[in-house]
Amino acid sequence: MEAQFLQAFYDLASWIRLSPLLNNGPYLPFSVVSLRPSAMIKVLDDIALRDRKVLLECGSGTSTVMFARMMAQRGYGHMLSLEHDGEWADRVATQLAAEGLSEVATVIHAPLEEHPAAVKHVDWYAPKTVTEEVGAYTEKHGPVDLLLVDGPPGWERGRTMARYPAVPVLWDFLAPGASVLLDDVNRAGGKEITERWKEECGLDMQLDPFGTRGAFGTVPV
Ligand SMILES: C[S@@+](CC[C@H](N)C(=O)[O-])C[C@H]1O[C@@H](n2cnc3c(N)ncnc32)[C@H](O)[C@@H]1O
Repeated sequence: MEAQFLQAFYDLASWIRLSPLLNNGPYLPFSVVSLRPSAMIKVLDDIALRDRKVLLECGSGTSTVMFARMMAQRGYGHMLSLEHDGEWADRVATQLAAEGLSEVATVIHAPLEEHPAAVKHVDWYAPKTVTEEVGAYTEKHGPVDLLLVDGPPGWERGRTMARYPAVPVLWDFLAPGASVLLDDVNRAGGKEITERWKEECGLDMQLDPFGTRGAFGTVPV
C-alpha cells in the first residue's frame, strides 16, 4: 500500500513538472500504455542533464511527441521512433507534423517479422528496415545517446521476451555512456531480459526505486 501511495504521489508531482511541455502544444491523449509521467520525467531529466541529442525509441506514442516538444523547445536534438503498427505510426507522425515537429522526430513503420535475435521466435521490428533506417539516422546525427525500449508489446501470452532484441541488435549504434530505459520491466519476462542484457552486453539495468515500472542503465564507457 505504501509503495502504491508513493508511486501515485511521484506521478502526481511529475504531472506538475510536465506542465511546460503539456501546455506547449495541443491536447495530448495519454493511455495506460503511455510511459508513466514519472518515467517521462526521468527521461526528460536525462536529456537535460546529460545533454542527450540522438534519441532512438522502440514503440511510439505520447512519449515521442513529448520528447520532441522538449528538444524543439531546447533548440536541438533528434528522435527516431520505430513503430510496428502502420496506422499508429501515421497517427503519431500526423501529430508531430501538426505541431511542426517533423524535423525533430521521425516515426518509422517497421512491421514485426521473424528476427534472428529473437528469443522463442517472438517477432521483432523488420531487420532490413531497422538496419537501413537506424544506420542512416546515426550516420547523419551520430551514435544514439538515449535508447527507449517501450515496444513491441510484450503483454500477450508467449510474447514476454518481445523486447529482448533491442539491446543486442542496436548495440553497435549506441554511444559509450548512452542511457537505456526498458519500460514495463515489472511484467513477466522483464527480469529475464535485463539479466540477459547484463550477461551478453555488460549492460547493468537498475529498477527505478520510485516505481516508474522502468529499469534504467548506462552503456559502459
Ligand atoms: C507501450 S506502447 C508505447 C507507448 C509509447 N512509448 C508512449 O509512451 O506513449 C507499445 C505500443 O502500443 C501502441 N500504442 C501506443 N500508444 C497507444 C494508444 N494510446 N492507444 C493504442 N495503442 C497505442 C503502439 O503500437 C506502441 O508501439
